[in-house]
Amino acid sequence: MGDTESESEQIRLKCIRKDGFFTVPPEHRLGRCRSVKEFEKLNRIGEGTYGIVYRARDTLTDEIVALKKVRMDKEKDGVPISSLREITLLLRLRHPNIVELKEVVVGTHLESIFLVMGYCEQDLASLLENMPTPFSEAQVKCIVLQVLRGLQYLHQNFIIHRDLKVSNLLMTDKGCVKTADFGLARAYSIPMKPMTPKVVTLWYRAPELLLGTSTQTTSIDMWAMGCILAELLAHKPLLPGTSEIHQVDLIVQLLGTPSENIWPGFSRLPLVGQYSLRKQPYNNLKHKFPWLSEAGLRLLNFLFMYDPKKRATARDGLDSSYFKEKPLPCEPELMPTFPHHRNKRAILATSEGQSKRCKP
Ligand SMILES: Nc1ncnc2c1ncn2[C@@H]1O[C@H](COP(=O)(O)OP(=O)(O)O)[C@@H](O)[C@H]1O
Ligand SMILES: [Mg+2]
Repeated sequence: MGDTESESEQIRLKCIRKDGFFTVPPEHRLGRCRSVKEFEKLNRIGEGTYGIVYRARDTLTDEIVALKKVRMDKEKDGVPISSLREITLLLRLRHPNIVELKEVVVGTHLESIFLVMGYCEQDLASLLENMPTPFSEAQVKCIVLQVLRGLQYLHQNFIIHRDLKVSNLLMTDKGCVKTADFGLARAYSIPMKPMTPKVVTLWYRAPELLLGTSTQTTSIDMWAMGCILAELLAHKPLLPGTSEIHQVDLIVQLLGTPSENIWPGFSRLPLVGQYSLRKQPYNNLKHKFPWLSEAGLRLLNFLFMYDPKKRATARDGLDSSYFKEKPLPCEPELMPTFPHHRNKRAILATSEGQSKRCKP
């Protein structure tokens, strides 16, 4: 779009408080947001389903940041008001274990907006794929405690992440773990449509979601937390389902068949009739983790309660005796630092594509 062209084109916006439209004066076209041109893109670090993420330098402050382009629904004009509400909410969140959304910047087109975030050197998905030796139990405890603290803060602020998984957990070179990519999935476009044919991973999805519950609570994040803890301990995904039916079956094989007895309301969930659940009377967590302590198994089972109402909260997780027994959680500063695989990959410009974990 040429400058003269864009200046002659009037921007009319709908008023929120009263009916009608108003014309935006040319000097206010970009609002109070800075332009993305003030950022120097260094390399691509991630491309998920809903956005491209760059490592970038803020030319004003010289700070290294992560820049995420928010993909907008093509048919809609501009930014949906729901996205703006959600972004405004996220801008107010501040917690050491939540990725910092610093500001929103705009491109030349009205519909192109970018989120500026604090930069984290690693994400746990690329890290798990590339590290030669698994995390020690002390390191796993250190990571999980930090995720739980971030979750507790989010949940206190009535935010459900909805998409917790290892690729959305970032880690700085100082060993600080931050939850990223939260609450935003809904903001990008309603209804949510995958922008690429990649299948969103099911592996962390709570049973009530698979069975079609209409009431989403913070407990869906706690289920995902259980999957992440187990994945870090075993150094491989716990429930790598390939379809919703397979996912449900894997859960039942691991934890036993749910019943109205242990999960009141279960039989009335909308999709229960669509699955024929196998009969499996046992809980097999102990066989999967024969080396794990009683307290560790208790925590996993608490996170994997079928009934969302009985499932551990973030507070319950933090209070678990698992974190008070040996091996004690290591201090974040003592976490090892790792090579920066994502940048290396970008610099070498290899086209190996997305991480294995994103594939179905
Ligand atoms: N603040 C950040 N610092 C460093 N890397 C990031 C940051 N935010 C995202 N990334 C990288 O980009 C990837 C995709 O970002 P994410 O916010 O999860 O978007 P998507 O919705 O596409 O999954 C992440 O898995 C991570 O590797
Ligand atoms: Mg993501």
